[in-house]
Amino acid sequence: MRKKIAVLPGDGIGPEVIEQALKVLDAVGDRYDHFFEYCYADVGAVAIDKHNNPLPDTTLETCVESDAIMFGAIGHPKYDNDPNAKIRPEQGLLKLRKELGLYANLRPVTTYPKLLHLSPLKEEKVKDVDLLILRELTGGIYFGTKGRNHDAGTAYDTCEYSIPEIERIAKLAFENAANRRKKVTLVDKANVLETSRLWRDTVRKMAASYPDITLDFMFVDNAAMQLIQYPKNFDVILTSNMFGDILSDEASVIAGSMGLLPSASIGNKTSLFEPIHGSFPQAAGEDIANPMATILSAAMMLESFGLLEEAKLIRTSIKKILEKGIGTPELNPKIIYSCSQIGDFIAHMIAEHEDFSMRQEKMSDGISTII
Ligand code: IPM
Ligand code: MN
Repeated sequence: MRKKIAVLPGDGIGPEVIEQALKVLDAVGDRYDHFFEYCYADVGAVAIDKHNNPLPDTTLETCVESDAIMFGAIGHPKYDNDPNAKIRPEQGLLKLRKELGLYANLRPVTTYPKLLHLSPLKEEKVKDVDLLILRELTGGIYFGTKGRNHDAGTAYDTCEYSIPEIERIAKLAFENAANRRKKVTLVDKANVLETSRLWRDTVRKMAASYPDITLDFMFVDNAAMQLIQYPKNFDVILTSNMFGDILSDEASVIAGSMGLLPSASIGNKTSLFEPIHGSFPQAAGEDIANPMATILSAAMMLESFGLLEEAKLIRTSIKKILEKGIGTPELNPKIIYSCSQIGDFIAHMIAEHEDFSMRQEKMSDGISTII
């Protein structure tokens, strides 16, 4: 298979984690005879510095012409405390979502047995958590009419949804649930919001076409609580843009490390894959960031190409590594591996068909070629 991939490393640790994901993709390419062509483009603060625009037209063109996008992170402290700044890195991401029609954001949250102790929740609560948040990404209050009435001293943000907007993401939710534990929870605020009532009506009607899937409904305030108390009860969470933004950050702490959580933003043609962690500017250039979230995002990209075996190999490699207690400093402060070492390690495991235990022995003997 031949694929053209737009690579948008962005800010902070973005470039270094992206580099590791491309290493791993190249290893997959060598092993399975695929060719991934990378087209680099600027986005975020780095694009503001260079082009005075967080999403230059050339970047958008590169994305439109590609089969998928690998995205690092955006954000720089110099913009963080000034929400009134005319040009901000996030505008680049929001515009990209809108222009490419990236209507669904998929954020899987899984836990790994070796890392349960890192979770702020009790181990028995988080063991075996495996949930998927599907957040609507191009509508709702994020993109509705907004403005200020300076004379009256008021401001407004409008939340609007159409039936087709709800249907296309709900379809994805049912389809994903069919390959999982067959449960969809629609999270909304239907006791207050008219848009939520439209979501309920629409999704309830659609459920008739998916008799194997259990559909339930939950108010967002309750869902925020249930996610912490009983995260295992969730399979697929379907929700609107703003609720999804908040709940997906809440859910991300369950796993114990943000550095392990990938995401996919699905569009009609080109989809985007990115780690859920931000640009972590304090760590930029230090080679300490965890590249696993980005590498797992690359696995989601391969899946979207139908390369299921390849994606599974990446996941298994990461699981094996974690089982051995190998990780960046936030996972294991006792034996520290750098961002690039983790990338090398996974790429070598994939490229060389190497048995993990052999590699592990070599590493502990200090004779590994990669450490
Ligand atoms: C996210 C981020 C963005 C959002 C910001 C950076 C605009 O928080 O991807 O979740 O709110 O969607
Ligand atoms: Mn967010």
